[in-house]
Amino acid sequence: MKKTYILGNWKSNKTMDEAKEWYSAFTKAMPPNDPDCTVIICPSFHHLPVFVDPPFALGVQDLSPFPEGAYTGEIAAKMVSGDVQYALLGHSERRTNLGETDALISRKVERAIETGITPVVCVSSLEQADALRGLVPAFEKTGLLLYEPLSAIGSGNADTPENAGAKAKEIREILPVPVLYGGSVTPDNVKGFVENEHLSGVGVGGASLDAGKFSRLIAAAR
Ligand code: PGA
Repeated sequence: MKKTYILGNWKSNKTMDEAKEWYSAFTKAMPPNDPDCTVIICPSFHHLPVFVDPPFALGVQDLSPFPEGAYTGEIAAKMVSGDVQYALLGHSERRTNLGETDALISRKVERAIETGITPVVCVSSLEQADALRGLVPAFEKTGLLLYEPLSAIGSGNADTPENAGAKAKEIREILPVPVLYGGSVTPDNVKGFVENEHLSGVGVGGASLDAGKFSRLIAAAR
C-alpha cells in the first residue's frame, strides 16, 4: 500500500485555550494509528508546548532562512528540530502576503534539511516546483510537495482528483517526490484525492480546525 500523508495546517488560528481543547478532543476522536498513513499537525509556534507526546507528527508553518543567531523575531530550524518532524514552507499565503520568493523559500528548505526536518513545500505551479529543483538539489532525497491551486484554497471549490492527479504527475516529472493535494479538502471529498495514483495525501486548512471534522476526514481517507 502506498504511503499517505494527511497534513493539517492551522494557519493563524486558535487561542492557547482553544488549542488545548482541540488536542484533548482530537486525541479522543482520532482513528487508531495506521503505519501507512502519517498524520501531521502544523499549529503555530506558539502552540507547540500544548502537544506533549502527540500520537501524530508535528510540523511548523514556517522557518527562518537564517541559521541560529542575531536575527530578531526569527525561529531558526535548530530551535525546533527536537520538537517537530516537518516544516510547511512557501505557502501561497506567504508568497502573496509577504512576498516570499523561490530564492527565499529555498534557503528555508536548506535550513530544514540540515537540521533533519522534512520540508513540505507548497507550490501552485510547475514553475515553482522547477525553481526548487534548481535551487535545492537535496530536496529530491527528503522533501514532500503540497500542490495547491490558488482558486481552491479556502474557497470551498476543491479541484477534482483527476485534475490534481494530472498536475501531480507533471510535477513529479520535474521533481520525483511525493505530491500531496491541498485546497478545500473535506471529509466528503478526501477519498478521491488519496486514492488517486499520482497523489500521496492531502493538505487540510479549514477542516483541520475542528477536531471532530478532522478525525472524520482521517477516517474517510483510510
Ligand atoms: P483549505 O486550506 O483547506 O482551507 O482550503 C488549504 C491550505 O491552504 O493549505
